[in-house]
Amino acid sequence: MNILVAMGTRPEAIKLFPVIHALKREPNFDVTVCVTAQHREMLDQVLSIADIEPDVDLDLMRPNQSLPQITSRILTGIDDVLKEAKPDRVLVQGDTTTAMAAALSAYYRKIPVDHVEAGLRSGDIYSPFPEEVNRKVVGSLASWHFAPTPRAADALIRENVSPERIIVTGNTVIDALLETEKRIGSFRDIKRAIDDELPDPGENRRIVLVTAHRRENFDGGMDRIASAILKLAENEDVLVVYPVHPNPNVRELMHRALGNHPHVRLLPPLEYVPFVYLLSRCDFVLTDSGGVQEEAPALGKPVLVMRDTTERPEGIDAGTARLVGTDPHQIHAEAMRLLRDRAHYQRMSRAHNPFGDGHASERILDVLAHGDDAPLLQLREGRASSLDDLPKINGVTAHVS
Ligand code: UD1
Ligand code: UDP
Repeated sequence: MNILVAMGTRPEAIKLFPVIHALKREPNFDVTVCVTAQHREMLDQVLSIADIEPDVDLDLMRPNQSLPQITSRILTGIDDVLKEAKPDRVLVQGDTTTAMAAALSAYYRKIPVDHVEAGLRSGDIYSPFPEEVNRKVVGSLASWHFAPTPRAADALIRENVSPERIIVTGNTVIDALLETEKRIGSFRDIKRAIDDELPDPGENRRIVLVTAHRRENFDGGMDRIASAILKLAENEDVLVVYPVHPNPNVRELMHRALGNHPHVRLLPPLEYVPFVYLLSRCDFVLTDSGGVQEEAPALGKPVLVMRDTTERPEGIDAGTARLVGTDPHQIHAEAMRLLRDRAHYQRMSRAHNPFGDGHASERILDVLAHGDDAPLLQLREGRASSLDDLPKINGVTAHVS
């Protein structure tokens, strides 16, 4: 089977590298990796640590690109690739413009599209913007829907997706995280470089990791997040560590507001291995990122989600995440509670894995390899996800006995 994997941004590369590795180990697949390079440096950072050499690189990123510009470039760029490569299937991940436009291009050529991380919904088409709608567009034309959690599968069923086409796999980000965590010990230089940015453990200072980049926060939200950080940084025992997204709407504002503050370290975007190490060393996280909301609970790190809605409520249900919006007083109050209320901190820092068990890519591979028989095979061999209720979700209970 010729399968074309299309991706363009940092989170897609992180969440797809375990799937690409699994596909490449399987001799029955001929894999074409096509990167749109909607992101450039941040994508390349992941490709290099994951040892993935793209077969096609469309090199589309432009500084401060608008949504229509990047969408139209990807739509036509991928179409040219599909015309040439003629894959049997196309695999996309998540909710980015790359995922949406690549899926649409494949649909126009009547090539089946499979969707990794299907079914996440906030219920608000403007939050996350434009990701909620991107993901729905992919969901409306996908062939296989790889839902990370039972809740995501339920959302698809409510939208009348056929249950036989939905497989609960867990999120591949947990595959990537666990694999990376295992390797961290061998990256001594990387650990040392991050340790050099952080206070000595003896200093007894608290490390707060921040990431923020969402488009819906550009209209005032980023300023409010910056004020909350400034207020938090007034505490002598706090160090805010913030790898800043290179989008000029974020980078310029954050450097202007927070640069040179003695309790704030602004860093360039980190490669995945150092970022995971930093996550493991921090006390808690302030973020509006999707992926970080999924990774932090797995490492037992409390997360304050600086958004009004989330399409990943599993972290909140598990008790590791709280939705705090972008009101500076609210963010500051919740962060102070984590700093000063020990019992509250401990309740939020129990490790949970509501998003996956590290075997999502194997399940995806199984389905791509065995097609319609895969859900049944997973059940028979006892390999159905421990996360899910596969018989109910896939409606195959009747066949099992
Ligand atoms: C994109 C995705 C978002 C995802 C995020 C992950 C869309 C609409 N948005 O948002 O869902 O959460 O990636 O980070 O698909 N830039 C660089 N170098 C890079 C990457 C970006 O300089 O390696 C700058 C460029 O000026 C670029 C701008 O950031 O034009 C915006 O990039 P873009 O991919 O359009 O949006 P993100 O905000 O990164
Ligand atoms: N990440 C990284 N370096 C950083 C910040 C984040 O490698 O400096 C990783 C993080 O571990 C997570 C992913 O990038 O897996 C999240 O990407 P981002 O926040 O850009 O996008 P989102 O998940 O919000 O779509």
